[in-house]
Amino acid sequence: MDAPIGVFDSGIGGLTVAKEIMRQLPGESLVYFGDTARVPYGSKSKKTVCKYSRQIAKFLLTQKVKAIVIACNTASALAMEELEEMVDVPVIDVVQPGARMAAASTRNNKIGILGTRSTIKSGIYERYLHKINPELTVVSKACPLFVPLVEEGLFEDRITEDVVGRYLHDMKEYEIDALVLGCTHYPLLRGVIGREMGEDVKLVNPAYETAKTLKDMLKENELLASGQNKGEHKFFVSDGVEQFLSFANSILPYSVEQTTVIDIESY
Ligand code: DGL
Repeated sequence: MDAPIGVFDSGIGGLTVAKEIMRQLPGESLVYFGDTARVPYGSKSKKTVCKYSRQIAKFLLTQKVKAIVIACNTASALAMEELEEMVDVPVIDVVQPGARMAAASTRNNKIGILGTRSTIKSGIYERYLHKINPELTVVSKACPLFVPLVEEGLFEDRITEDVVGRYLHDMKEYEIDALVLGCTHYPLLRGVIGREMGEDVKLVNPAYETAKTLKDMLKENELLASGQNKGEHKFFVSDGVEQFLSFANSILPYSVEQTTVIDIESY
């Protein structure tokens, strides 16, 4: 089926998931929406994030998407159930695949979770992880300064090293051996985070397992794109086209020539 897949995030973070989908499903077309006017979601309430997610889902449905990927941990944590009820296409989140990957990665049953304030406060990773294995020790840490550092492009910078060092200081005492990058912006800081935690700690990026879950779901429901052609992608934002374009082109293995601004509040 040649309809596109809708992918959304509060901003550029979801491009780390889009990139993995493009790699695992090169024949699929994507419609990406980055809510660049209303980022960050990570400090907002469930009510607000649900409202934003509903508006975005409505917009994506106007693009005739065959499935929606919530490429944002915060929206996955707060709005997944609501979106599943609202739309009649399959919805894939990033938290359940991330939890599965983390549980499969740990050897000593000690897992760390990094995320936005709202994701960590929701306790969603702990719930999924304890469903998989009640014996797991899970340590969580909200890292609210990571998203602005990424949005400013400070992937490798002394300020980033300072902030990462400060947030991860306590985490190191728990001897975790797997650390979930539980916000789709964070894989862009994996160099600094990896150096801080050391090579014995496996960094878990939920994007890989999310794309795999999407692929399995499309296969099962006979929704895979039919042709041999490469997918064609469209990009939409709610503000700041220039900044988004330069980010998209630095992150994606694909040249993004056009991005369209839409008035998301009208949906
Ligand atoms: N990238 C998003 C996440 O995965 C949200 C970051 C934000 O908007 O605060 O949580």
